[in-house]
Amino acid sequence: MTQKNNDNRIINPTESNGDLALDQTLRPKTLAEYIGQENIKENLRIFMQAAKGRSEPIEHVLLYGAPGLGKTTLAHVIANEMAVNCRVTSGPAIEKAGDLAAILTNLSAGDILFIDEIHRLNKTIEEVLYPAMEDYALDIIIGKGPSARTLRLDLPRFTIIGATTKISLLSGPLRDRFGSTYRLDFYQAEDISKIIKRSAGILNIELDSGACEQIAARARRTPRVANRLLKRVRDYAQVKADGQITADISLRALQMLAVDELGLDDVDRKIISAILEKFNGGPAGLNSIAAATGEEMATIEDVYEPYLLQIGFIERTPRGRMVTDLGKKHLGVQGKEKQKLLL
Ligand code: ADE
Repeated sequence: MTQKNNDNRIINPTESNGDLALDQTLRPKTLAEYIGQENIKENLRIFMQAAKGRSEPIEHVLLYGAPGLGKTTLAHVIANEMAVNCRVTSGPAIEKAGDLAAILTNLSAGDILFIDEIHRLNKTIEEVLYPAMEDYALDIIIGKGPSARTLRLDLPRFTIIGATTKISLLSGPLRDRFGSTYRLDFYQAEDISKIIKRSAGILNIELDSGACEQIAARARRTPRVANRLLKRVRDYAQVKADGQITADISLRALQMLAVDELGLDDVDRKIISAILEKFNGGPAGLNSIAAATGEEMATIEDVYEPYLLQIGFIERTPRGRMVTDLGKKHLGVQGKEKQKLLL
């Protein structure tokens, strides 16, 4: 199958290198600055205040939800609110038990260790993590064979914040060791507009409310996509206009980026039309859709499908993915508009 690089697609909610510097400036530092996810913020406020009152670190926290919804941002906000350091690592970066031991023994009391993609930790490392999370101790095996013995090393009290897009892949024992688990949802349109306005303010971008609405509608209810679209529209306005972003300028920029009025790009459309045309609307298995579109299964599942499911354009059934009436209608309307243009 052809391998595609989807990293630089504008609507890809996974983090790209280009987002890193941007995230640093735009990332809210406090819960008050963090927009949306009201329920989670309310819970966290109480939870953090109670821990502070007892002069204890907070319990381990598990955050899950689609890419780009702000799990990493929230972990940094928690660290900042608790006035502790936040060390960052990820499931795939911890290859050996020794890697984890090195990270854990370097933590200070109260520190937060953020483990992104925690579902990708391997089993042996998970087993080192259990006593570390529960008893703040590391069991190290010294030597080999009959003379091997374990040494228990005490660790400072610390907090793990785990993040995952796939909670179902986390083992039961690991999940049970988190004091609280929060699911980040796709954002409301008003919250995405607020995030865009806030980012425009920080980046000194002049944006009228019509332009803001247009970007918000196409941001797939995801802050990372919203910030990325804002940046690209700014580039367009700078080159093609005087830098001011009006509704008209933003519409032209967004059309050039081939992101439609609901935030779908050509790959989303290709996925929906493949199910419609090659599998009669479905059900179609993920591998069949991947073969029909030339996209990788993981890309379809992690990048495209969550939003298509969220807006009700496709459905997951035990026998595969199906296009819904809404999805058919959206593509049908676009098809007719294209035909009109061609006539
Ligand atoms: N940037 C990314 N996520 C955000 C959020 N939830 N609030 C404010 N800015 C953000």
